[in-house]
Amino acid sequence: MARVANVRKSVATTLVALPLAALLAAGGWAMAEPLGLPKVPVPADNPQSPEKIALGDKLFHDARFSIDGTVSCSTCHNDKKAFTDSPLRVSEGHHKLTGTRNAPSVINAAYYTSQFWDGRSVSLEDQSQHPMVNPVEMGLPDHEPVLKIVREDPAYVEGFKKAFGKSGRDVTMDDVEKAIASFERTVISGDSPFDKWYFGGDRNAISDQAKRGFDLYVGQGRCVSCHAIEQTQALFTDNRFHNIGVGINRIQGDVPRLAAEFLKAKAAGASVDKTVLADPKVSELGRFAVTNSFDEIGAFKTTTLRNIAVTAPYMHDGSLKTLKDVIKHYNEGGKSPGDPAPVNPYLSGGIRPLDLKDQQIDDLVAFLETLTSPAYVTAQTK
Ligand code: HEC
Ligand code: HEC
Repeated sequence: MARVANVRKSVATTLVALPLAALLAAGGWAMAEPLGLPKVPVPADNPQSPEKIALGDKLFHDARFSIDGTVSCSTCHNDKKAFTDSPLRVSEGHHKLTGTRNAPSVINAAYYTSQFWDGRSVSLEDQSQHPMVNPVEMGLPDHEPVLKIVREDPAYVEGFKKAFGKSGRDVTMDDVEKAIASFERTVISGDSPFDKWYFGGDRNAISDQAKRGFDLYVGQGRCVSCHAIEQTQALFTDNRFHNIGVGINRIQGDVPRLAAEFLKAKAAGASVDKTVLADPKVSELGRFAVTNSFDEIGAFKTTTLRNIAVTAPYMHDGSLKTLKDVIKHYNEGGKSPGDPAPVNPYLSGGIRPLDLKDQQIDDLVAFLETLTSPAYVTAQTK
């Protein structure tokens, strides 16, 4: 509690000392970080403002930016489901078309240094333009229909005037992307039982079993080497890419052909975003699709583990149904239970059999269950 009070106090002190513009540029207005999280990074050319955040919120929930008027960002990133579409394995776009990947939560995405499972987008701003024109998501042919709506709908005309001082043709996709990203930078959650225990010093915030699970998390399980916990904060990600043996077993024999064909299509101008979400096999190439680097075949971004208990199923392909299945996969050294294929040659060096007993697996699950923030405890996962 003491630390939260301190943060509030220092914000209040700075308020007096700095001109408002400087505060906004620092992204520091009115938002004290929840326990366990650092300051939200805000790009210099897109400072936070209440008007822009409200506008982004509206854009995020507007289904008119899809070809059949039924799909908004929040269809797949539903606030009632901890900003996912749990329990779907892979997302459903317009006309129930399916893509190849599981929808990650938007909660705390503001802290990632790249967006998407393969990191193909460099910022929240850039990311937000893609779903609208992806053929299996919102399905628009281009961004013109979006611009028409935001330039003509009276509520948006008012909103863009307030947020950007712009109207008519001066409103561009750049502004739309900035507003959505500003909203997403407020979708932040910490203050979980784990945070109260580890950073807040409340000894009773988590159970003894969860504490044993934590010891395994940082010890024998070696989870912390990728899902990082720092001294004063925990993002549960290293923002890097690793092949942990998910999905790749399905394409192993086919990798050289798939990789060669993908590189050819990419050189000829094919969109990486559209290709990886359209073809389940190409999807498994992972980070390779972005870097063309063979040692990143089947590598995906280390995702945060915050709110993980309410966002099943798991992994980029949604192939693991429960947290127990996930830990069994790691315990086998990167091979899902029942998976006949050998462990793939691109496997990260950090993935080795862990020799965890059943009781220890349960302890680790109990620890992961302490990472749910109060706002999402009641998230629907069924
Ligand atoms: C049809 C479902 C669907 C819709 C609609 C959709 N998304 Fe997503 N979103 C996904 C999936 C699936 C991924 C992962 C794709 C990948 O990594 O290749 C994703 C990834 C993301 C990410 C990256 C998070 C991370 O952990 O890297 C962000 C941010 C995001 N979406 C925001 C949005 C915004 C903003 C919109 C609206 C403009 C939107 N999404 C619309 C399904 C959807
Ligand atoms: C070598 C780095 C590394 C280590 C070690 C590691 N992880 Fe992961 N973890 C990842 C990556 C990368 C992904 C995403 C992989 C994918 O989707 O293909 C992931 C995904 C997950 C997910 C699913 C996340 C989601 O949103 O679906 C969970 C849960 C998880 N890890 C828990 C753990 C636990 C528990 C341990 C320790 C037993 C652990 N991880 C060890 C890198 C690692």
